[in-house]
Amino acid sequence: MFESLKPVAIDPILGLMIAFKADTRSEKIDLGVGVYQDDRGRTPVMEAVKIAEARLMDLEMTKSYQGMAGDPDYNQRILGLLFGDQHSILSSGRVKSIQAPGGSGALRVGAEVICRARPESRLWVGVPTWPNHIPLLGSAGFEIKEYPYYDMASQKINGQAMMDALRSVPAGDMVLLHGCCHNPTGADLSHEQWDQIADLALERGFIPLIDTAYQGLGDGLDEDGYGMRMMAERLPELVIASSCSKNFGLYRERTGSITFIAETPEQADIVVSQAMSTARSIYSMPPAHGALLVSMVLGDDQLRAHWQAELEATRLRLKSMRSLLCDSIQNNEAGMDFSHIKEQKGMFSFLGITAMQLERLREEFGIYIVSSTRINLAGVNSNNIDYLSQSMLTVLKS
Ligand SMILES: Cc1ncc(COP(=O)(O)O)c(C=O)c1O
Repeated sequence: MFESLKPVAIDPILGLMIAFKADTRSEKIDLGVGVYQDDRGRTPVMEAVKIAEARLMDLEMTKSYQGMAGDPDYNQRILGLLFGDQHSILSSGRVKSIQAPGGSGALRVGAEVICRARPESRLWVGVPTWPNHIPLLGSAGFEIKEYPYYDMASQKINGQAMMDALRSVPAGDMVLLHGCCHNPTGADLSHEQWDQIADLALERGFIPLIDTAYQGLGDGLDEDGYGMRMMAERLPELVIASSCSKNFGLYRERTGSITFIAETPEQADIVVSQAMSTARSIYSMPPAHGALLVSMVLGDDQLRAHWQAELEATRLRLKSMRSLLCDSIQNNEAGMDFSHIKEQKGMFSFLGITAMQLERLREEFGIYIVSSTRINLAGVNSNNIDYLSQSMLTVLKS
């Protein structure tokens, strides 16, 4: 049977990680991989999570099955995190959330439920988007359509072209939006653009699917929720896939949520029953560990404050690495403008350099960047910034 299968080409980011590992130069720098790193280049377990983990070791009395929706306390607390504890949607009965295996699992369950509800729905994705959006959502059955999002030449959102395209989206189609810290561009919608998209959704009848994988890493926990909170107030229907991989550092624990807002509480109950039956047909139940930690952290005032302080330090470090890198390469002989790096949010931005320059950075200097020129700002630190900026200035000279 298996002789008919062809090998699948290795994911370019994984390929880059392998090449980075094999590189023996001590000064090498990895700006490709999509995880947070601290100033010492480590991806640490957050302290608040460690404390919760120690408590859980004592408190956890069973590993018995938990059910398709995962931990009810986690589901409730995630709603408070997404919308803020005082949001009117929370008492409306129209919002329901279930635990999912990471943001990726959440996106997939959400997509499957939408395709069950409306098989003819198409999904509009901004260009560019996180590359995994296409296989993850497309294989649920969506026809994928594109709308322009980012202009590489100006390194800004192409607002006019985006709105023009969204104006043509028909009723019942889904529009994928990034909640904050857009991956790969770092260019987030302004409040005004969020408002305009909500106006268009009401006017046209399309439904936003918001992917929020970086809440707290852009402008702050509440600020990063602007788009989904405003849309939850204004729109009859909304789907949100969220992840605790980055803001709780729980990557491998696969901790995420899929949240549905329906027109009525009765519809919300039906949607969530469909989400649970979808989960049952794919992986049955989500892993428990990460969600138990998140609900413990969010449910304990002291631990929550500890986590928020750590998250804020992470956010500020990313912001300061943006400024540091921009300032140290802005004055270059090629006359290239890198000011967008300072203005953008979260972990990623495009450098916008040529394929040749990218190759020289890797071959001559051991600096690894994916071919789109997306860099992870968390890979920049106080030890490597001088080497990184000098190498870039050298490459930009020729
Ligand atoms: C935009 C976006 N959405 C979703 C995810 C999925 O995160 P995870 O499945 O690891 O929780 C990621 C991870 O990199 C992402 O960048």
